[in-house]
Amino acid sequence: MKHLVCLSDWSSDEILETLKLADQLKYENKNGIRHNHLLKGKSLGMIFSKSSTRTRVSFEVAMYQLGGYSMFLSANDIQLGRGETVADTARTLSRYIDGIMIRTFKQSDVEELAAFGTIPIINGLTDSQHPCQILADLQTVKEYKGKFKGIKLTYVGDGNNVANSLLIGCAKVGMDISVATPKGYECDSKSIDVAMKAAQESGAKVSIGYDPYEAVKDADVVYTDTWISMGVESEKEERVKVFMPYQVNSELMSKAKPDAIFMHCLPAYRGYEVTSEVIDGPQSVVFDEAENRLHAQKAVLVKLMG
Ligand code: CP
Ligand code: NVA
Repeated sequence: MKHLVCLSDWSSDEILETLKLADQLKYENKNGIRHNHLLKGKSLGMIFSKSSTRTRVSFEVAMYQLGGYSMFLSANDIQLGRGETVADTARTLSRYIDGIMIRTFKQSDVEELAAFGTIPIINGLTDSQHPCQILADLQTVKEYKGKFKGIKLTYVGDGNNVANSLLIGCAKVGMDISVATPKGYECDSKSIDVAMKAAQESGAKVSIGYDPYEAVKDADVVYTDTWISMGVESEKEERVKVFMPYQVNSELMSKAKPDAIFMHCLPAYRGYEVTSEVIDGPQSVVFDEAENRLHAQKAVLVKLMG
């Protein structure tokens, strides 16, 4: 466990151990038990080529609470934005700091950082994966449902970075996952393959389809994300038309189990992928989910940099 580039690189045991540590760190945080010795004197560089609220703030606070230091590096303000290579950036930063968190477009850039750097690299979202989000999501599901085996998560909407990582994460921990997207907006085939293989080992059921009503049957968790991810803003008009039948509204929620929870990685766009009634209603756990970004990422930082 050197990096967190994609959840596919982590074994089920590594994921479960990290979640256990996340629970412990959350408990300590809630009970005033300080853990600022864990990354004392360590520095994390945080490279952002895209906007962020949760990832940026939770990583920064995580490093502070663990006794370390973090620096926000806007990709436009470092030489990377002017054409310095990813490889040279990796080799240079490795001489100064103890870890890099990066949010960018291409997954291959994160892989290149990991290949050329000598320090842990953490993927804070690319066009194809969002592993930190999914660790927080798994922590949240466990808190509400108590287990993964026998629990069914349904993802409805765009087969994007969050959906790809959810497929892999759920399959690895043994939770059933059913995904419904419009035709042409499916999850990437590589993530589906990884999930199918992981499911064979964990016993999880993975189902990929197009009908949201079919997918949410018996769901314990209903999950959606924006239809317009960062980088595809120019497709908004077309996407809104295609995705409207995939909106998570009260009618769709009523087809899941009565005690189903609603999850969303945020930021949310009310009236599009989810109605206010659902996201602001009693089944929604989205702010617990957002909070868990802090605890889950602390666990990742300790595992990789501690
Ligand atoms: N969910 C998530 O990653 O949020 P931010 O874009 O605000 O970091
Ligand atoms: N799928 C969204 C997630 C934002 C946290 C995006 O990539 O913009």
